[in-house]
Amino acid sequence: MKGTEHIVVLTGAGISADSGLSTFRDADGLWAQHRLEDVATPQAFARDPDLVHRFYNTRRVQAAEAKPNAAHAALARLQAEWRGQVMLVTQNVDGLHEAAGADVIHMHGALARALCAACDHRWDAQPEMSLKDACPSCGTRAVRPDVVWFGEMPYHMEQIVQAVQTRDLFAAIGTSGQVYPAAGFVEEARLIGAATVELNLNDSDMSHAFDEHITGPASATVPDWVDRLLADARG
Ligand code: APR
Repeated sequence: MKGTEHIVVLTGAGISADSGLSTFRDADGLWAQHRLEDVATPQAFARDPDLVHRFYNTRRVQAAEAKPNAAHAALARLQAEWRGQVMLVTQNVDGLHEAAGADVIHMHGALARALCAACDHRWDAQPEMSLKDACPSCGTRAVRPDVVWFGEMPYHMEQIVQAVQTRDLFAAIGTSGQVYPAAGFVEEARLIGAATVELNLNDSDMSHAFDEHITGPASATVPDWVDRLLADARG
């Protein structure tokens, strides 16, 4: 890994687990408590918008109370040291990467943002969103969380795929590799001969595709990994 300088880091719910936020697919995860078909699809919002708002309102409060952990801080440090060379992409809708000082691309949107389904206007979400909210731009009462639901296209895909297909190293941290297109990034990176590393508490569905595996909680493994990258680059 010596000399590696251009990196894409993909994070998932596992990186925020050590900050007290639930993952989705672990035994105690969100999808064990809720049916994703009830709260995380456009059809669910059309059927029962109140339920969907309540689900995201609860998560917005929890995310606002959470603090970034050592893994978020280490990635922010890596970005600061290697300015412009570390693209950080997250599937998470919490704001913990930003809170740690990182520059992050939210491919699945953000709990802190609201979206008007009528005119696509976006703005900072109130802590509690509801059916009664009107869009500040067009006035329509079709306000939803600015999160990407199942069946919708993730954001910034062109920019992300372009980076995955050109950089030296692809790292995935705390993601189960079950949700595409993010789960496919490792294969894209391999096609161009990039090094690939997975940091996870357990094996994921995509573990077989990575060159290197670092096992353990992200708040312990990510700072060590960042230290190693920086030390290797210094020679
Ligand atoms: N440190 C590192 N990894 C962890 C930790 C931890 N402390 N705790 C859990 N993990 C790992 C789990 O082993 C699992 O592989 O994090 C992963 C979490 O997987 P998911 O719950 O499936 O979360 P994620 O991969 O981010 O989900 C992808 O699915 O439901 C959608 O839109 C949602 O963005 C989400 C997407």
